[in-house]
Amino acid sequence: MLSVSGLETFYGPAQALFDVGFDVPRGRVVALLGRNGAGKSTTLKSIMGLVSPARGRIVFAGQDVVGLRPHQLYRLGLGYVPEERRIFTGLTVEENLTVGQQPPRPELPPWTAEKLYALFPNLTDVRRRLGGQISGGEQQMLTIARTLMGNPLVLLLDEPSTGLAPRITAQLAQAILDLRESGLTVLLSEQNLRFAAAIADHAVILETGRVRWSGAMTTLDSATKEALLTV
Ligand SMILES: Nc1ncnc2c1ncn2[C@@H]1O[C@H](COP(=O)(O)OP(=O)(O)OP(=O)(O)O)[C@@H](O)[C@H]1O
Ligand SMILES: [Mg+2]
Repeated sequence: MLSVSGLETFYGPAQALFDVGFDVPRGRVVALLGRNGAGKSTTLKSIMGLVSPARGRIVFAGQDVVGLRPHQLYRLGLGYVPEERRIFTGLTVEENLTVGQQPPRPELPPWTAEKLYALFPNLTDVRRRLGGQISGGEQQMLTIARTLMGNPLVLLLDEPSTGLAPRITAQLAQAILDLRESGLTVLLSEQNLRFAAAIADHAVILETGRVRWSGAMTTLDSATKEALLTV
């Protein structure tokens, strides 16, 4: 569904990614792991066209997409939820969902506000409240819900569990598993290994901009965790 190879991205003269490559199969959840500064966000931003890779290929749904602008990628079916929450604080929760709405795609059943309230029950109670007047966890869920209203084929999530209370994190994990069940493909970056292990099929571990380990989540051994993830 999404395939990255030989990706090299720079910030000015500083190289952030070195020959990064991995595959995200259709209907799977892949977790990008690694310590602070490993290059997780840069990888997601490179895929979404927010930073321009100097080299490498990104193939999405059979099309080479390097060089396309974020709005073009969004229309093709890449949904992106950045680390910082992105909602309209002056619009209600309900209105936030409506403005995200995009035409349905033949590949997947279209999202409606009602389906999203079922997926994120917390949002139901606050649906008439302004985006600026709901909790951080609710804003995080609203950002994901709003992105889903664009009917993406692949959802990119940058550290979705950051700043969430454990109870909310558990709900979010369940929501992502439900999304996977519905046929969505998910690539997420995470520092929370427990959260990632609960939802991801595959893991890709970055260290200083290079892929150091990748494989089935269930085969991630403690020596690798110690070497590449433990802080
Ligand atoms: N806008 C920027 N300008 C210059 N350097 C940057 C910029 N953004 C990131 N970097 C650098 O690129 C490298 C990778 O950063 P990136 O944000 O991708 O890491 P990350 O794995 O997402 O880390 P974190 O877990 O802290 O979010 C780091 O060395 C970082 O300092
Ligand atoms: Mg990051």
